[in-house]
Amino acid sequence: MGDPKQAIMKKISINSSFFTENRKKLSSLMMKDSAAIINSNDILPSNADGTVKFIQNSDLFYLTGIMQEETILILNPGSKTKEHKEILFIRDYNPDLEVWEGKKLSVQHASEISGIKTVFELSRFEDALHDLMCSTDNIYMNTNDHDRSKNIVESRDIRFINHCKKYYPLHSYHRISPLIYSLRVIKSDTEIELLQNACNITGDGFRRLLKFVKPGVMEYEVEAELAHEYIKQGASFADYEPIIASGENACFLHYVKNDDPCNSGDVLLLDVAAGWANYNADMTRSIPVNGKFTKRQKEVYNGVLRAMKGTIKEMKPGKSVRDIIMVTRELIAKELLDLKLVKTGDVKDIKIKSAEFKKYYPHDVSHFLGLGVHDVGEFDVPVKPGMVLTCEPGIYIREEKLGIRIENDILITKKGNVDFMAGVPSEADEIEDLMNS
Ligand code: GLY
Ligand code: MN
Repeated sequence: MGDPKQAIMKKISINSSFFTENRKKLSSLMMKDSAAIINSNDILPSNADGTVKFIQNSDLFYLTGIMQEETILILNPGSKTKEHKEILFIRDYNPDLEVWEGKKLSVQHASEISGIKTVFELSRFEDALHDLMCSTDNIYMNTNDHDRSKNIVESRDIRFINHCKKYYPLHSYHRISPLIYSLRVIKSDTEIELLQNACNITGDGFRRLLKFVKPGVMEYEVEAELAHEYIKQGASFADYEPIIASGENACFLHYVKNDDPCNSGDVLLLDVAAGWANYNADMTRSIPVNGKFTKRQKEVYNGVLRAMKGTIKEMKPGKSVRDIIMVTRELIAKELLDLKLVKTGDVKDIKIKSAEFKKYYPHDVSHFLGLGVHDVGEFDVPVKPGMVLTCEPGIYIREEKLGIRIENDILITKKGNVDFMAGVPSEADEIEDLMNS
């Protein structure tokens, strides 16, 4: 089973000390004499008896490293019983299930992965919950409080909260998410290494595509090339559908059909990235299908690249994401004027209100990155060292069937920032040279 102190996903391992440290930090933020209960995600249904691939709850993963369904963590730092300060519950051993799905985690293996000494089978959870509720008034529960989440499906955490409120109505319930998010938004050295690796594999996939893309190739064939590179390296696609969009398709921001041909004269927009140990890269590149940008395409491309470089310079402690967004709007507004896409006005007017501006630049430049692709983090507070953000300006001209976006992933440091994707080709000439070499 390899090093027993590691969480193993494919060939990827994270030392249990990472999860232990995360629980320690979270416990120190909780109010005195309180406990937290955090559930795994469900295995979601598809149709008939089908299910979709299991995706773990990021918060539970961050605190335990456990990649299995039906897992529950209780943190009770004030418990008088030392063994009960942290309790992990995993599925009961089930020999019938094992015949179909293979081995699930044993109590001992779950303990080795998470660093939690007290691991019980789930059948003991109801009794443990009752003991906890009899001795603790303040209970933290986990909810998905991402500001852009539009999810209407009831999670295991929500079902559990409803259950507790019904049977223990006089307890005080609190949100754990603000505490967990305040930790997750600052990446540790371990996380920085995992993210850099996801970006490196993403770069390898992109280099492979520069040799592969030719007129006539289908968008889905491009996706298959990437799958080969990522999976061969033990990685996966990052936690979003790859966007492989040729010609006009590039103007539809979350185009994921990927079923059109890439034609000579098109620019192919690739918003594609690898995930490594649940940590996500997020990259966009825009390349000429026939290996040579037209003069116009190159003008637009270089405008977007200038906006990216100009924005990255401003991604430093003290600025909020909102400030950074405004910097890019101004840079893009200037490019739109130079490209004669907007006719009049001064840069400051164009960038906020104009419908023309929104037509050519309908999104903003940045989001947090980590266990989530659109990771947790607040847009209105100054960024801090350890935060990781994307930088992804674009210009989309439907009437010219042209959409260009370039996206790198940026780590904020004390002195400024580090570009995780600095080594992934982004200069127009370099891309053309590599496509034609
Ligand atoms: N990579 C897709 C997005 O950032 O929305
Ligand atoms: Mn992105």
